[in-house]
Amino acid sequence: MKTYIADLQKIKNKSNAIKKAAGIIKNGGIVVFPTETVYGIGANAFNKDACARIFKIKGRKSDNPLIVHASDIEMVKKIGVLSKKDQQIMERLWPGPVTIILKAMPVISKVITGGIDTVAVRIPSNKIAINLIKYAGVPIAAPSANPSGFPSATSGDHAEEYFNGKVNAILKNGRTKYGIESTVIDLSTMEILRPGSFNIKKLERIIGSKSRSPKKNSATKSPGMKYRHYAPKTAVFMFDGDSKKLQNICDGLNNFAVIGPNTFCNKMQIQCKKIILTRHGADDAKRNLFDALIKLDKLHVAFGIIVVSKDMSDDPALINRIEKATSNIKILDKESLLNVLGNS
Ligand code: TXA
Ligand code: MG
Repeated sequence: MKTYIADLQKIKNKSNAIKKAAGIIKNGGIVVFPTETVYGIGANAFNKDACARIFKIKGRKSDNPLIVHASDIEMVKKIGVLSKKDQQIMERLWPGPVTIILKAMPVISKVITGGIDTVAVRIPSNKIAINLIKYAGVPIAAPSANPSGFPSATSGDHAEEYFNGKVNAILKNGRTKYGIESTVIDLSTMEILRPGSFNIKKLERIIGSKSRSPKKNSATKSPGMKYRHYAPKTAVFMFDGDSKKLQNICDGLNNFAVIGPNTFCNKMQIQCKKIILTRHGADDAKRNLFDALIKLDKLHVAFGIIVVSKDMSDDPALINRIEKATSNIKILDKESLLNVLGNS
């Protein structure tokens, strides 16, 4: 398939390119576009065949529902049922990186909801995403732009590498603002189904009530949480000690990469590749994490170690993504490293 690719950072007439992509959406095509969290791979939410194509292109399981993106509250009302109270909360959270679960309107196909009777909705703050939806005149169903299981695209280049030739259009606009996906919340129970770019404490302040972790395994509530996620092809593990300790553990091995804070990487004196994950704490790490994991696969090393500093471990969304990418495997000593390498 010939993919129309527009790099919005390089062209003058951005709105023409966005209008062209919006026309593609309206006519049943698939468009990869930037949001403030990660890139999305989108289709007209009222066209179930187009939405079904997203699952095919991503290799996504059919029971893992899509988020529907709207440009304003009036559009949200066409997607899900909302009370006055829901609406008041939404007006304070949106536009932004929060996804809210609502009872789905009958026009929303079970293809989008994975067969359940609720639908995930959000109004993004990214101007290109908003304009794309406005010009298309329909809500856009869009999961993160990545082949299922792999790190989400957080730059136009990632989007192009993943989907050139597989979708009708790609709108590139450099790197995304936050770098990880939206926070998913069920307002009826105040359960955080997925920690994400919207800070949970701030969310609680706005809503005026405490959030909860899902009682049951969140996989039953948010189907996507049960699948393999965010993982590069290269084996990757967590480590939370100091650089001396990691040097001792990795002594004698040289074909590996350390993904960590710049201060940690600078101290590594044994031979290894280094990917700087952050220079400025946890927010910067979130912004760079998926890019770092995608880079790791290009280094052709035997394994990668993600160094988790204290401020990183205090960030639930960041830790959630790192735990998933590493299948929650922590390196404690040389023996545990050799053990997991034997198994990977
Ligand atoms: O930031 C984001 O949320 C990005 C951008 C593109 O908006 N989208 C994204 O979509 O991350 P995706 O498909 O990768 O993740 C959607 C998550 C999945 O974990 C899915 O199971 C959950 O939202 N979800 C979707 N519909 C749901 C529903 N009705 N009830 C519970 N969880 C739902
Ligand atoms: Mg995803």
